[in-house]
Amino acid sequence: MLGNFEYCNPTKLYFGKKALNGLSGELEKYGKNVLLVYGGGSIKKNGIYDEVVKILSECGKTVREVSGVMPNPTYAKLLEGAKAAREFNADLILAVGGGSVCDYSKGVSVSAYCNEDVWEKYYERFEEPDCRIIPVGCVLTMVGTGSEMNGGSVITNTDKKMKVGQVFGENVFPKFAILDPEYTFTLPKYQMTAGFFDIMSHIMEQYFSGSDDNTSDYIMEGLMRSLIHSSRIAVADPLNYEARSNIMWTATWALNTLVAMGKETDWEVHMIGQAISAHTDATHGMTLAAVSLPYYKLIMPCGLDKFVRFAVNVWGVSVEGKTKEEIALDGLKEMEKWMREIGLVLNAKKLGVEPDMLGAIADSTLIMQGGYKVLTRADVIDILEESLNYE
Ligand code: NZQ
Ligand code: ZN
Repeated sequence: MLGNFEYCNPTKLYFGKKALNGLSGELEKYGKNVLLVYGGGSIKKNGIYDEVVKILSECGKTVREVSGVMPNPTYAKLLEGAKAAREFNADLILAVGGGSVCDYSKGVSVSAYCNEDVWEKYYERFEEPDCRIIPVGCVLTMVGTGSEMNGGSVITNTDKKMKVGQVFGENVFPKFAILDPEYTFTLPKYQMTAGFFDIMSHIMEQYFSGSDDNTSDYIMEGLMRSLIHSSRIAVADPLNYEARSNIMWTATWALNTLVAMGKETDWEVHMIGQAISAHTDATHGMTLAAVSLPYYKLIMPCGLDKFVRFAVNVWGVSVEGKTKEEIALDGLKEMEKWMREIGLVLNAKKLGVEPDMLGAIADSTLIMQGGYKVLTRADVIDILEESLNYE
């Protein structure tokens, strides 16, 4: 049952080869001052920086840069960007990068004119902004988070060892996003496949939640099948445009609020993954891969019919002569095979997690209520322990 809801996604997308051609038409809608935000320098190596700066200059924009936005962007960096945006009187924040840069830019957009403690307001009390919001536009260079078309902003508070995602409303969504699959071609394989699993996890953490049989479930099954198909091609041939473009499009629709309609959504795998990143700075998508199999095996008995449906509709498992448990477990076995095939991390030790860290990571893990089973702290530790046993 879908229930009642309002749906609006205000982000305008420009998708495909040379999608950057849409940028000048968007820039015209905003004032002169553009805050250009990017990461550690990948865009300078692959030429995207030069392309963007050339268009900004042709459009007569005054540009100030905030660079060095790190993966798992920190609260300290956020405050630095908010100060720069305010002092520069930015009319637009142009995020050029992956999810970290997009998330960070949204965090800056609501913090520049916020007179309260930003961490407490947005990342502890999860409030909406009630101050001036600077519009954000994204040029995406990495696929996975869906940040280009949602209100998510995940920030790491290194002092508190907490990594927390705020999901802002439509007025914080990027006003536009430029999605050129070829911009992702320079991604190292590790980052590329980490992004693939981030997409899979986004879908699974909405799919495995109530209510359990509506249009969103059918859309998600199609998105997962598309991802599984194209990821196998992309791992074998990273420059395959069709595969990379299908995956880019899947990532956007996995987390632009569409498939959450009618679903309670879980997000516990993300909470454990984010806690791992808070303690290890590990790559987001790999933290999710490292805890997913233990997590889904733990909750499977609480949602057995849905795991049977997952095995059949997504992984094509045959049901002949099998019990429900056998079918469901075969589905998770097929997923494990795919994870190994594309080179994901299954053992959290490879992310820097040591046995003596499990308690602290569990203490940093937010417990969610929307999944099939509400975890205890002991469950979180069991999941982490089981991950450490994977070969
Ligand atoms: O910093 P640069 O030099 O750009 O290098 C980046 C970074 O080191 C590199 N990279 C990006 N595009 C590249 C490239 N290298 C070569 N060629 C390219 N085209 O890749 C590295 C990782 O980039 P990052 O932006 O950190 O990765 P991702 O896009 O996976 O973003 C992860 C962040 O997004 C948050 C995560 O928690 C994490 O902080 N998330 C945001 C969500 C949202 N807004 O809805 C939801 C997600 O679940 C996730 O939590
Ligand atoms: Zn994610």
